[in-house]
Amino acid sequence: GLPELVRIHEVGPRDGLQNESGLVPVEVKAEFIARLAAAGLGTVEATSFVHPKWVPQLADAEELVPRLADLPARHPGLRLPVLVPNERGLDRALAHHAADIAVFASATETFARRNLNRSADEAMAMFQPVVARATEAGIRVRGYLSMCFGDPWEGPVPIDQVVGFGVRLLEMGCFELSLGDTIGVATPGQVTALLDGFARAGVPVGRLAVHFHDTYGQALSNTLAALRAGVTTVDASAGGLGGCPYAKSATGNLATEDLVWMLHGLGIRTGVDLRALVATSGWMAQRLGRPSPSRTVQALLGA
Ligand code: HMG
Ligand code: MG
Repeated sequence: GLPELVRIHEVGPRDGLQNESGLVPVEVKAEFIARLAAAGLGTVEATSFVHPKWVPQLADAEELVPRLADLPARHPGLRLPVLVPNERGLDRALAHHAADIAVFASATETFARRNLNRSADEAMAMFQPVVARATEAGIRVRGYLSMCFGDPWEGPVPIDQVVGFGVRLLEMGCFELSLGDTIGVATPGQVTALLDGFARAGVPVGRLAVHFHDTYGQALSNTLAALRAGVTTVDASAGGLGGCPYAKSATGNLATEDLVWMLHGLGIRTGVDLRALVATSGWMAQRLGRPSPSRTVQALLGA
């Protein structure tokens, strides 16, 4: 069967804007996030406390986060997680009173080197004190795992390898594990097989989220396969913004509008006002100077 309710983890301001070639002004980012929250998204990943030279697009995190301070009072329950790679990033997040952070590991060696400048094991060792200190401070930590289905340098990734790294993140103390198809190559049978692998390892499906990129147009089909396997948390990016600067061939994430269109059509609640969301992505597309790749945004804005 299918769930009655799906929690959407909106990643547009982070996964989307980290990949923009032009710099987006901080006040535009703040308005984008405020509009996403007003459209009913309960989790909006705001930015990253990573090295500013690695991701200059998000180097304004210290300026952005204070501009969001009044949002949780306006939208009770709103969560604004930020990406944190290491203790230096955690210190920056703590200085800005982050209540939710996310660490991001790689299921492959090559991407760990390219994205985190260390081996996959060394990256795990880097996250360990971050997760420990954060959970001790009452901060919720999400764990991302990238390249769960295919890697541009290594090709297909063995299920056992993905499950092994994923279980380590959960055992470290991450409350949730987001399975990333960073380059968007997965097809639904692979999704079912990977989720079966986690079930065999004893991981409750409620602790898993899915994070699809739409490079080959499979993101929605993959999402449906995940929902059928019991997943109820789905990552998506407003207007289909996104990609990853350290993974060539990664295009935008699954568009939140396309996801909401499918879910509402299936009678699944999301809490999202689709018209308000489409208007937000239309507004953002004007700021970025090009149309949204989301089919739902195009259809509803054209109508
Ligand atoms: P490094 O160069 O190995 O860092 O980078 P280091 O520990 O050797 O430190 C070098 C210098 O950087 C030091 O300064 C540190 O203080 C400073 P110095 O002492 O030389 O003056 N430094 C920092 N400064 C500010 N903030 C920090 C920080 N850390 C160190 N947090 C590092 C290692 C992990 C920092 C770097 O590789 C990095 O920032 N990587 C981030 C890459 C990234 O953000 N990628 C995109 C997100 S992942 C993604 O998009 C995938 C996802 O969407 C899921 C999917 O689709 O699969 C999540
Ligand atoms: Mg991503």
